[in-house]
Amino acid sequence: MIKGKDIYLSPVEPEEIQLLLGWINDRETVHYNTYYMPVSKIQQKGWYEKMMKSDDVFLFGIRKKRSGKLIGTCQLCGVNMIDRNAELRIRIGDTKERGKSYGTQASSLLLDFGFNDLNLNKIYLHVFADNARAIASYQKLGFRHEGTMKKHAHVNGKYTDVKIMSIFRK
Ligand SMILES: CC(C)(COP(=O)(O)OP(=O)(O)OC[C@H]1O[C@@H](n2cnc3c(N)ncnc32)[C@H](O)[C@@H]1OP(=O)(O)O)[C@@H](O)C(=O)NCCC(=O)NCCS
Repeated sequence: MIKGKDIYLSPVEPEEIQLLLGWINDRETVHYNTYYMPVSKIQQKGWYEKMMKSDDVFLFGIRKKRSGKLIGTCQLCGVNMIDRNAELRIRIGDTKERGKSYGTQASSLLLDFGFNDLNLNKIYLHVFADNARAIASYQKLGFRHEGTMKKHAHVNGKYTDVKIMSIFRK
């Protein structure tokens, strides 16, 4: 468990993937970072099992401190122990829990984990150029804009620019 002020990070358990399935099948939520595709229970189970077996992915559930309620997930993926870098991904799946600083707190804990536990040198991410809340959160944490991939993703009928942001170990 990785403890923060209002939330903590801990592994996602098999019985919880049903909740994640609801988030991944919610078009609006999914459109913040990818195109929509329906996901079935069996596909979700396969995804979870693959994640649990991967050496280069660390998946965490984001939970509220008092209740332990699962409100989202975050992960470091593509962890490369030679280049010492990884990609950060985050989703506050519970729409009511967005905009309450939990996402920024969770990313901050994930950065601590990446730099201090995994001994990474760089953590990067991809974010849609119009995802103002996510960009504000990442900037607050010290991520810097590294470049923009023009019309890189096709979401909901239109192409969108994708920004790459990164942060180095202090
Ligand atoms: C992006 C996400 C992780 C941010 O977490 P959050 O807990 O909702 O955001 P926070 O409350 O920490 O807010 C971060 C900053 O964004 C600002 N913000 C909040 N809502 C905003 C909005 N609608 N537009 C622009 N900025 C906004 C806040 O003011 C805050 O900055 P401040 O503390 O200086 O005021 C979360 O909203 C989320 O999971 N969204 C859906 C999926 C997604 O976009 N994932 C990221 C893909 S790259």
